Amino acid sequence: MTGKAPDPAANLKQQAAIKAASLVQDGMAVGLGTGSTAFFVVAELGRRVREEGLKICAIPTSDATEAQAREEGIPLTTFAAHPELDITIDGADEIEPRTLNLVKGRGGALLREKIVASAAKQFVIVADSSKYVDHLGMLCPVPVEVIPFGWENVAVKLGRMGAHVTPRKHRDGSFYLTDEKNLIMDCVFGPIEDPHKLGTDIHSIVGVVEHGLFIEMATQAITAGPEGIRVIT
Ligand code: 5RP
Repeated sequence: MTGKAPDPAANLKQQAAIKAASLVQDGMAVGLGTGSTAFFVVAELGRRVREEGLKICAIPTSDATEAQAREEGIPLTTFAAHPELDITIDGADEIEPRTLNLVKGRGGALLREKIVASAAKQFVIVADSSKYVDHLGMLCPVPVEVIPFGWENVAVKLGRMGAHVTPRKHRDGSFYLTDEKNLIMDCVFGPIEDPHKLGTDIHSIVGVVEHGLFIEMATQAITAGPEGIRVIT
């Protein structure tokens, strides 16, 4: 048998996604995120385009999201036509509720996700409530996107910063490549006291393209849990 195991949080992700998609209005240029929660946002926007005549155009953050948006009939645009976006809605791997700082990139799309998020007036996060953490780094590694040439040296330098570094690979042992054909180093730092400084330090390594710490970028988080929907601004 093939296929993915059912996602027990799918219903919560869908609730948060539908609420976030309701923020999108006629005429908006929209950034579309990547991942299992963003999937529900794209599905809901597609439904609104088809059934309600919602008029939007969108920039996807990955090849996978682009394929889904095309299937849903969502008109796509480019940064040439829309250098600024009205809203981007995307998932996250960790959310610090006090600051709305995030870890993203478990799906490998962090570079385009950060570009699309930074281009938007509003950056809305959708997730189930299991993504809340007291400190970033508690639940999952920080992904760092790295140019393939010389990645071994970048890995050593990330290790000297205190990370346990694992190059992301497929089950068959081949390297995972991002849509931009770069590698991902998954870096376990443990709880991160100063994510802003860590992000700056990671960026200072030659060969690093981007990292998955999204600091002071999100304007709103919409999460769903057993207690209902929570909106943090
Ligand atoms: C992909 C991402 C995703 O938004 C993040 O991994 C959350 O995914 P999901 O909604 O499937 O939990 O950053 O690069």
